[in-house]
Amino acid sequence: MARTPFGDGDPIIREDEYRLLRDLVSARIGINLASTSRQSVARRLRERLSVLNLASFTEYFQYLRFHPLARHEWEEAVELLTTNETYFFREDFQLRAFSDEILPMLHERNKARKRLFIWSAGCATGEEVYSIAILVDQSKLFSGWDVRIFGSDISRRCVATARRGVYGPASFRATPPDLRRQYFVERADGSHILDSIKPLCHFGQMNLLDEDKARILGRVDVVFCRNVLIYFDAHVRRRVIDIFHDRLYPGGVLLLGHSESLLNVSTAFELLHLKEDLVYKKPTLAQSSAMANRS
Ligand SMILES: C[S@@+](CC[C@H](N)C(=O)[O-])C[C@H]1O[C@@H](n2cnc3c(N)ncnc32)[C@H](O)[C@@H]1O
Repeated sequence: MARTPFGDGDPIIREDEYRLLRDLVSARIGINLASTSRQSVARRLRERLSVLNLASFTEYFQYLRFHPLARHEWEEAVELLTTNETYFFREDFQLRAFSDEILPMLHERNKARKRLFIWSAGCATGEEVYSIAILVDQSKLFSGWDVRIFGSDISRRCVATARRGVYGPASFRATPPDLRRQYFVERADGSHILDSIKPLCHFGQMNLLDEDKARILGRVDVVFCRNVLIYFDAHVRRRVIDIFHDRLYPGGVLLLGHSESLLNVSTAFELLHLKEDLVYKKPTLAQSSAMANRS
């Protein structure tokens, strides 16, 4: 039977153990635990110590670093340390800007090759990906095009839920009722995304710090990375933004969450002023060489 290292009270994690764990988590998955209290992290991970029969957080730290099964344990830790809150049509003013201004712009730019690739980085359970797919469908600009919306998340469970495409009431808190009626089929186990939308959406488990995996994704026209960077350390944000910059086509667009910005993170993007929002644009090749000539 598993040893239980703690009594009935709160689990104990010493300051030095917490610091080690924080650094390890930041290096591996980018998440900055500083904003979470020491005891809250201990409470979240407590069950793992019991399952693994470990007596202290020092032992857990060593397990995550050196154990042959550490890879599997990281998957478990990720589920306990990430915040996966999301819902359809979140931050609707930005999605309006996407529909009204960004999609027509991309239609114009890509009409020769008829291809539209979008990446939702940190898509949680997939609501963002399906919202984007619905807006692309609603625009009626891309029929006959190769449209792909890639959703990636570090959480295996989230990706499995996203692939299934079946949702409960909480996911619809901001969904216009007519879109819900049009794009979901109500069944006993929840609301199923329409079969015609599913093929546009592709999901994969990916750590945003994994540059090689991001490269496999190829180049994209738009990156949505909303409500993800807020959980990262400054140096991790920079690393992830560099990856987005590398993966975007010149002229491609980056959309962050409303409380996130590139201030003190990157100067590689220019601001694109839309009617309802400010988003970031990777300079076109002509703009990049003009900037290089000026400097
Ligand atoms: C709050 S959710 C945001 C979901 C969606 N983008 C939205 O705005 O509704 C943040 C997601 O980022 C994911 N995440 C955190 N660290 C990550 C990493 N290093 N790589 C990939 N995904 C990560 C979490 O698993 C979580 O599902």
